[in-house]
Amino acid sequence: MRIPLIAGNWKMFKTKSEAIAFAEEFKALYKGTDVQAAICAPFTDLDVLVEAFRGTAIGVGAQNVHFEDEGAFTGEISVKMLEEIGVDFCIVGHSERRQYFAETDETVNLKLKKLLSGSIRPIMCVGESLEQRDSGALFDFVKSQLEGGLAGIAPEYMKKIVVAYEPIWAIGTGRTASPEQAEEMCAFIRKTLIEMYDEAVADEVIIQYGGSVKPANATEIMNQDEIDGALVGGASLKASDFMNIVDF
Ligand code: 13P
Repeated sequence: MRIPLIAGNWKMFKTKSEAIAFAEEFKALYKGTDVQAAICAPFTDLDVLVEAFRGTAIGVGAQNVHFEDEGAFTGEISVKMLEEIGVDFCIVGHSERRQYFAETDETVNLKLKKLLSGSIRPIMCVGESLEQRDSGALFDFVKSQLEGGLAGIAPEYMKKIVVAYEPIWAIGTGRTASPEQAEEMCAFIRKTLIEMYDEAVADEVIIQYGGSVKPANATEIMNQDEIDGALVGGASLKASDFMNIVDF
């Protein structure tokens, strides 16, 4: 039985004081739901969010991590640092990191392995560009991201990974994938996981959709069989909007 996960991805938005204000407003609205809710925030907001959500079922996630334990890596953050703060999730391989910060399937793989050696659940992002969709290469491309990113990851660890399908053309564009398009790819992702692992493992993996999810389309998306959650950018910045999505 998969418990749906609806996670906000704040990207590079919200200072510490803005994060505290959001948390207070969100907690006041939050009455508990059947889904797991979480906020993936900038590093500087993580400690106050963990503190604010203590004693609630609301999780906190980071948006990136380094794959080494420690070392001379100026500007980077380690798994241990996140664990000490008490973070529950960490996004890995978001398309913006692949595009602007040279994230590759290989570094995604290293980061996943490092996170899985500890207690933080990775949210691994995959998804095609508009050119890849239009040329029909979308399934091969997503499959290659899964095979590269998950190389050498054992079945018992795979179950801990959340896979987020985020078509690049639907991120921040207002152009949502239709529920059918999202469902088709999420079903393909599960089928690929069956091939790479087995049915029992694939059945436990939470697969999210991300890309212009908002209160108005959350129900339709969440009602799809193979979609177990959402990764929400813009609409997670306002407590009432995010609550309406979590409460779809
Ligand atoms: P938007 O919801 O703003 O389209 O962003 C999606 C996303 O990138 C979540 O990780």
